[in-house]
Amino acid sequence: MEYLKTLIILFLSLFLFLQSNAQSAAERTNYDESKVPDFELPDLLTTFDGRKIKSAKEWETLRREEVLDFFTNNMYGKIPGELNIDTWEIVEEGTGAINGKARRRQVEIHFENNGKKLSFNILLYFPNNVEKAPLFLGYNFYGNHTVYDDPNIRVSDAWARNNEAYSITSHKMTEASRGAQTANWQVEKMIDAGYGFATIYYGEVDPDRNDFDDGIHPLLYADNQNKPLDNEWGAITAWAWGLTKAMDYLEQDRGADASKVIVFGHSRLGKTALWAGAMDERFAGAISNNSGCGGAALSKRKFGETVEVINTAFPHWFCDNFSVYNNNEEALPVDQHALIALMAPRPVYIASAEEDRWADPKGEFLSAYHATPVYELYGKTGINSEEMPGIHQPIHNSVAYHIRSGKHSVTEYDWEQYIKWANTILGKRNHLFSFNNFSRSSFFSFSKASIRS
Ligand code: GCU
Repeated sequence: MEYLKTLIILFLSLFLFLQSNAQSAAERTNYDESKVPDFELPDLLTTFDGRKIKSAKEWETLRREEVLDFFTNNMYGKIPGELNIDTWEIVEEGTGAINGKARRRQVEIHFENNGKKLSFNILLYFPNNVEKAPLFLGYNFYGNHTVYDDPNIRVSDAWARNNEAYSITSHKMTEASRGAQTANWQVEKMIDAGYGFATIYYGEVDPDRNDFDDGIHPLLYADNQNKPLDNEWGAITAWAWGLTKAMDYLEQDRGADASKVIVFGHSRLGKTALWAGAMDERFAGAISNNSGCGGAALSKRKFGETVEVINTAFPHWFCDNFSVYNNNEEALPVDQHALIALMAPRPVYIASAEEDRWADPKGEFLSAYHATPVYELYGKTGINSEEMPGIHQPIHNSVAYHIRSGKHSVTEYDWEQYIKWANTILGKRNHLFSFNNFSRSSFFSFSKASIRS
């Protein structure tokens, strides 16, 4: 009995100790620029064993792989195996969407392995006046039906975090939040500019909770495995994997120009977009909106959210190996500028919000700046000055950056910038008005297909 009592007391003290530690790490949040520690940023153009990189070829053969490998095994975690789309089916489509300017398509993508199944839905809009549209692909936080007020968008029955603003109680999404994120997505602006749009509810790929029995993970477990190994995928890699599978689908959709897909994400999904763009070179560009710690922001600055804080609050996002760097950012042989550089020479856009200090706007900017030498190896222009631009003074180069006023969010201003930038990097708007021999009937005949791959 005494023994049991001691054990309980010990356990409780340990619990309280861990609790107070976690709290104090969050409470210790530094928002004071003068308290940013001195740190040395790993040189992107020097390999881990000291060799100097002098050309794009050397970057690709000597350096890119080891950097990618580090992020894979020590931060986001690796995908433990190959899993192709089993089948996909078009479950709904229609014309006359988005005020008569677009066609809508909803596609369910199915996976099966280990006797387990997973499906996720892609909602697509294609502008009527473009035969094969370049497009923005991005996950949404609260269901496809929230991105635009369109009664035809199916409401997902996947698990969702409860949220009063979206009328989500009992982890179920409902009609009440249809169109609730219209302002954050600006789909009509994309369509007007000749872009298609594809979105997926991220919780269908992996519910955002510290539980590895659900989502995609179990489909790739080895026998008797019930959680990822220390270097295997956390949720961010799982979500990034879903984007690469969406890309597999887009390559087969005749409405999409799969060579011009820009992967987009906000916040945790901005971290995801950068990681997807790094892993899958089919993405033509990537946009990280307010992605912060573990996304665009430099970890070594320890400004706002830190590695320890993020790993404590969201233990399922990164692989277990990443906790080695809790309050130990100095030891990181890479920083997030290296993640951005993995996009090179493909264009990348980093955006911050002035009041989003938790995400460290300056750290996001500096990452973009320090990724630039890799872009220069390819003769591309990145960010030329270490001086942050003013509010609403976007820089639209192969590495792009802006900081806007306001809070952590995606706004109309953000989308206006992304569209302008996409117009320049994807070869102006020459895809527009190339719509001639496309007809309604070809759209519908294609849509009957349901293939096995
Ligand atoms: C939290 C988290 C951030 C993340 C954000 C989000 O604030 O600490 O790292 O980016 O959620 O995804 O909204």
